Amino acid sequence: MELLKMEGVTKTYGAKKIAALSGFDLSLQKGEMLAIMGKSGSGKSTVLNIIAGIDEMGGGQVLFEEKDMTKMSEGQMTRFRRENLGVVFQHFALVDDYSVYANIALPLKLRGVRRAEVDRRVRSVAAELGITKLLGKYPRELSGGEAQRTAIARAIITEPKLILADEPTGALDEENGRKIMEIFHRLHRKGNTLIIVTHDPAVAASCERTVRIRDGRNEACV
Ligand SMILES: Nc1ncnc2c1ncn2[C@@H]1O[C@H](COP(=O)(O)OP(=O)(O)OP(=O)(O)O)[C@@H](O)[C@H]1O
Ligand SMILES: [Mg+2]
Repeated sequence: MELLKMEGVTKTYGAKKIAALSGFDLSLQKGEMLAIMGKSGSGKSTVLNIIAGIDEMGGGQVLFEEKDMTKMSEGQMTRFRRENLGVVFQHFALVDDYSVYANIALPLKLRGVRRAEVDRRVRSVAAELGITKLLGKYPRELSGGEAQRTAIARAIITEPKLILADEPTGALDEENGRKIMEIFHRLHRKGNTLIIVTHDPAVAASCERTVRIRDGRNEACV
């Protein structure tokens, strides 16, 4: 079953209408693990931001489970994001005033999950990512790699239908990068669908399929 379809998606930024995407297509089956690669500035984060409803697109179409996302109201979009997506942003986007624990717990709180269950799941995902000792800290007290793992914990805690990860191993050493990829692979085996933006050929090679983007367009397969 097709989970996500993007067709001819365009996006421009600013008054000068600088093109970030100029007709991007993507078809993603449920359960797939896809890598997106491309040079800096080619439009990778823009693609993820459009899927997540953070950036408004210029033209084209995005369907999620055959529903037209462009026709959703802001409220519907927020609910959709909460119920279906887990996003790991390139710059983490942790809430500064929240502890690591509260940051990871946030998506469950928004879903109204009971406190005891929230606690069980936060501790379980934190253990898995090796950040149990950091639960009482605040984002400004974390290293880049620790902040990255916190952001990943927050994105996967609801086991969402679609996980979007922007350079999830970018701030990590080789060992921690490998650990993160193992977690993503485990979620994939459990049936989750993932899109991983990466500059690392080894990360892309471990995904099932790679889509290349160049100047906001699909790069023709060679
Ligand atoms: N908020 C913005 N305002 C203006 N231009 C933007 C904005 N966000 C992105 N752009 C431009 O759109 C293009 C695509 O940016 P995008 O962030 O999608 O690239 P990327 O492929 O994710 O790059 P990187 O690998 O460096 O993260 C770039 O030329 C960038 O300068
Ligand atoms: Mg980017």
